[in-house]
Amino acid sequence: MPRGRSARLGGRAEGPAGRGASGPTGRAGRRRGGGGARGGPGGGGSARPDRPSRQETRVGELTLRHLSQGFVTRTERTEILRDIDLRIPHGELFCLVGPSGCGKTTLLNTVAGFMPPASGSVDLDGQPLRAPGNDRVVVFQDVHNSLFPWMTVRDNVEFGLKMLGLERAERQRRVAAFLGLVGLSDHGLKFPAELSGGMKQRVQIARALAIEPKVLLMDEPFASLDAQTRRAMQAELLRIWEATRTTILFITHDILEAVMLGDRVGVMSRGPAATVVRIFPLELPRPRSLGDPRFSTTVGQIDALLGQENDHGA
Ligand SMILES: Nc1ncnc2c1ncn2[C@@H]1O[C@H](COP(=O)(O)OP(=O)(O)O)[C@@H](O)[C@H]1O
Ligand SMILES: [Mg+2]
Repeated sequence: MPRGRSARLGGRAEGPAGRGASGPTGRAGRRRGGGGARGGPGGGGSARPDRPSRQETRVGELTLRHLSQGFVTRTERTEILRDIDLRIPHGELFCLVGPSGCGKTTLLNTVAGFMPPASGSVDLDGQPLRAPGNDRVVVFQDVHNSLFPWMTVRDNVEFGLKMLGLERAERQRRVAAFLGLVGLSDHGLKFPAELSGGMKQRVQIARALAIEPKVLLMDEPFASLDAQTRRAMQAELLRIWEATRTTILFITHDILEAVMLGDRVGVMSRGPAATVVRIFPLELPRPRSLGDPRFSTTVGQIDALLGQENDHGA
């Protein structure tokens, strides 16, 4: 659990590529050691064979270099992203905020491999990414259309594991482990229509993590949940991330959410030709409190920056 450092929050910001002394690589390992097993499947204590396996050899560092992206229509080419430099080290929970329509989903889709970069590159552990792969999994915003409605919760989680060609015993182990991790062990035989929005997103997260990806890509996953459920899911996500230490790129337009969750928060400009204008390292210990003055200071700084972006674009 990332606590123990009570450094100030929001007093400084890095350049997008983390060129400063406290750049991303320097920060990568600082939170690895302290036990992330809290909240493991079943919440039990002793040896837990049903626990998600942590592949210590698994890494998961994303590097975006001079990434530009756009869309071509019959009449014109629109540049959506321009020259984005960003490094997200293994195990980091990186939040990206930006005005609506600035290109957040486009960036996530590019990292997912759904769109090859127009120019520049996206590397995962030093290997260029140009197509989707099992090393990255997306959790989508659309709570109600992201699961197979004709499959039970268990079958939804197991489906991708079948696609991976895993044997039945391993599939069952992972289904049990990851449904346990998201607190849905007792709901495996239900169908999506029987679940609340928050539960559906838990299934999406379990389904994604069961693949044991290096990177989890989350595109405003809690945006359509009510405020109370959203807060609960943020706490859940932190608990799950602490248990698995998967690298997470979390996209949101909710500044409070970004500051509640992120190790760092990147702020995008309005676009077109959007870029990451600033990165805020957040060193406030977790769990974070909305009432903490350091929390509100950072929220205010990001809000002001986004306000400027909106003013420029208006
Ligand atoms: N398939 C597409 N073809 C052309 N333009 C698109 C396409 N998808 C998105 N866009 C445009 O790209 C811009 C960024 O979209 P998007 O990445 O969805 O923004 P965000 O997720 O930040 O709201 C928007 O102006 C949008 O209209
Ligand atoms: Mg979007």
